[in-house]
Amino acid sequence: MQKKVWSGRVSGSVSQLMEEYSRSTETDHLMWREDIAVNRAWAAELAHIGIFTPDEITRITEALATIEQEFSNDQFTFLPSDEDIHVAIERRLTELAGEAGARIHTGRSRNDQVATDARLWIRRMAGDWREALLALQATLLARAEEHVDTVLPGYTHWQQAQPILLAHYLLAIFWGVDRTVQRLDEYLARFDECPLGCGALAGSAFPVDRERLAQELGFARPSPNSIDATGDREVFAELLFVISTLATLLSRVCGELQIWNAHEFGFIEFADAHATGSSMMPQKKNPDAMELIRGKAAAAIAAGAQLQVLSKGLPLTYNRDLQEDKPVTFRMLQEIILTTRLFDEALAGAVFYSERMAAALDDNLLATDLADYLVEKGVPFRQAHEIVGQAVRRALEKKCALMQLSLQDLRAFSDVFEQDVFEKVTFANSLARRSSTGGTAPGAVRRQLAAAKESLGEYGDR
Ligand code: ARG
Repeated sequence: MQKKVWSGRVSGSVSQLMEEYSRSTETDHLMWREDIAVNRAWAAELAHIGIFTPDEITRITEALATIEQEFSNDQFTFLPSDEDIHVAIERRLTELAGEAGARIHTGRSRNDQVATDARLWIRRMAGDWREALLALQATLLARAEEHVDTVLPGYTHWQQAQPILLAHYLLAIFWGVDRTVQRLDEYLARFDECPLGCGALAGSAFPVDRERLAQELGFARPSPNSIDATGDREVFAELLFVISTLATLLSRVCGELQIWNAHEFGFIEFADAHATGSSMMPQKKNPDAMELIRGKAAAAIAAGAQLQVLSKGLPLTYNRDLQEDKPVTFRMLQEIILTTRLFDEALAGAVFYSERMAAALDDNLLATDLADYLVEKGVPFRQAHEIVGQAVRRALEKKCALMQLSLQDLRAFSDVFEQDVFEKVTFANSLARRSSTGGTAPGAVRRQLAAAKESLGEYGDR
């Protein structure tokens, strides 16, 4: 039986159940690249301070290259006794390099090792996510550009409220995604600190150069406090917040697009590639991509809470509870990348039916504009609101559209109405009037498109 790395003080012969229960390789094997990189950097540092002879560091370097090959070729064999990826790699290193391998853990702990590996893994995967986010932003921009002239009802409380441009709606999603990219960048910069060399909790007793280690591993700086670096898990919690914020945004949008896809709306149709049929009802084409994305948000939101609950009540240093940080965080990061890509694909492949959107426009969408017409002729808005409310009721009684009321009908509520009301209060004018920054007027939306493009361009440069 393989000896445990801690088998001096404790016999090392744990029960099979304990061994299985405590093993974390199922998740942390994902960090094999990072663990090898950390081993390389640490070995080089130990060579600098004379722990490894030139001959030994050569053997270590070669052994690490072999281990890397084994992982790349899917030929690395884990033993049941390998408690985690760090133990597995150290065990193999010692098999290959003999006594030199047995020196690698000098002055380091799995506590600073795991904190470093995890940050590196997150950084690599966050790069993939960032790429997916920028691709989604590009799709949103492209689809918005196609639909600067497409008008649809804007809803509040799922009641028709005011007309909007489809481009304006799509750009609303764009800015939400934009904030995720900002958050991700800020998050990565905040945690751009290398824990390696912090030891178990108190720092390394060997004179390692942590600035050099940080540089070697591509971090901006070493973490400033060994207790904080090894015991803190905000690094996971904050990432999960960034993930769940996007998951929540997309779940809202997917819920809305799912309804737009319903027969009664018919505003959008998804490509067959992003829909499924029913095992029973032959006519069905279900917008499953939207529903799955909406559903996945639940786990993302819960994951953030899980990390905080995991940490609450723990002392500031490492406790084994913290091993539970990675399965949930790693899964969520992998999943949000897929979510982002799938939403991107589904949006890129969807068809928007602008005629259905136009046909759905109810004249009552112009009620605010009708009130604004009176305001421009000097009526205080509150009175104008009351007058138009009565006009809306009158139209309902007459079973006609609001702007189908005659001038005489309108003048029954206010003699400020004149013939020009019919040419002034139109959908085109309703949109055009909302021309201040951030509004849905075609001109304002074009300016917004330019701003969005500029923002996306800046990200590309970073
Ligand atoms: N597998 C552990 C984890 O993921 C690594 C650190 C273990 N440290 C320890 N002292 N047992 O958290």
